[in-house]
Amino acid sequence: MNFPQDFLWGSATAAHQVEGWNTNCDLWAEEHVEGSIYPDRSDAACDHYRRYREDIALVAGLGLTAYRFSIEWARIEPEEGRFDAAELAHYADMIAACEEHGLTPIVTLHHFTSPRWLMRKGGWKNPVTAKYFGRYARYVLRALGTHMPYIVTMNEINIATMLKKLFSDWQFVPPIGMAAEGWTAPEWRQKAAEACGTDIEHYATIHTASEPEDIDVIRQAHAEAVKAAREFAPQAKVGVSLALSDVCAEPGGEKRAADVWQSYFGQYKDIVMNADFAAVQNYEREIYDADGRVQPPVGTELTECGYPYCPQAVSAVVRRVHAETGMPVLITENGIATQDDARRIDFIREALTGIHEAIEDGVPVLGYTYWSTMDNFEWAMGYSKHFGLIAVDRETMRRTVKPSGRYLGRIAQANALVD
Ligand code: BGC
Repeated sequence: MNFPQDFLWGSATAAHQVEGWNTNCDLWAEEHVEGSIYPDRSDAACDHYRRYREDIALVAGLGLTAYRFSIEWARIEPEEGRFDAAELAHYADMIAACEEHGLTPIVTLHHFTSPRWLMRKGGWKNPVTAKYFGRYARYVLRALGTHMPYIVTMNEINIATMLKKLFSDWQFVPPIGMAAEGWTAPEWRQKAAEACGTDIEHYATIHTASEPEDIDVIRQAHAEAVKAAREFAPQAKVGVSLALSDVCAEPGGEKRAADVWQSYFGQYKDIVMNADFAAVQNYEREIYDADGRVQPPVGTELTECGYPYCPQAVSAVVRRVHAETGMPVLITENGIATQDDARRIDFIREALTGIHEAIEDGVPVLGYTYWSTMDNFEWAMGYSKHFGLIAVDRETMRRTVKPSGRYLGRIAQANALVD
């Protein structure tokens, strides 16, 4: 029942969700302007920017072997063309801390947030953004690239596509914000645009860039980062992550399900196949019938985020992505939002059982990084969702390891499923 040798056992975070005071990015503006749809502001987040050494030691102390985190572009390049060496040193030390603790760093270069100044340039709708992103990637990778065994260029490169689909299912017209409510608050979007120094016409965060020409910009940005990685981090395995629901059909829903999968995955398949691994992120199963998305039956167990408990979805997606690409798969996110930690343990056990079966059937799976290391800022859902293996007291910032954290750590140490 062992997992492959060198299987990566990790947990994941994203800069904006844990660091705190990420003031120069676009989503900070969205949180803080009047009429914001965000119920909470990230503000101090988990204070990870200052406590990263303590947190990395905790992750290693659990017994995990990898830590996935992101580098914040808005910190590295707070104004266009002004690169901050002190911020670079901060991330260099995060990598060093991982190395000291025997954790493999899995570094993401873009996890949803972008510098505010980029919005003044037209954000993710301006083709030049690909060049800006490439310049940032080169700056980071030239200095730190040789210390990166795994690089994820962009987190959920298909996020805008997915949100557009989900919101249009709910009768909202794209382009979208991160929460459906965003549509009912255009004044808020205008204010956020102004806070970034632009107007609503030119304001394009990565979540709203869902038109085919925007997708080209994003794909091009990824390509620039890959180029930088090949030059400055030749040893690194490079991938791009995709948000992938397990898209299923009931009789009559086959065409619809195929179209959804094509929009989430098919249109990005070529860039996955040109990378070194497929980075898969899964949270749910989407079922379609002839009339559209099938709502879960009354009484279905829902997670805190409101979607059905479905730990089997991740292995189904892993199998499908491998079958369609032949690529090795790294599960860069999978997790459950719940206050019931015993249920999180069930979720992890069931998810890993499915993943192990896939491996036995010949699917090359490189690792599993649970989302998330700690309870954190869940974007437009604020601090009310609990994905963490580690609890964070919002007053004192005190960390408390949950039984699920110890459970995943024991699995990592045994390299096998344990009780
Ligand atoms: C994102 C994370 C987010 C998680 C849970 C993923 O889509 O990469 O930033 O917190 O889902 O919703």
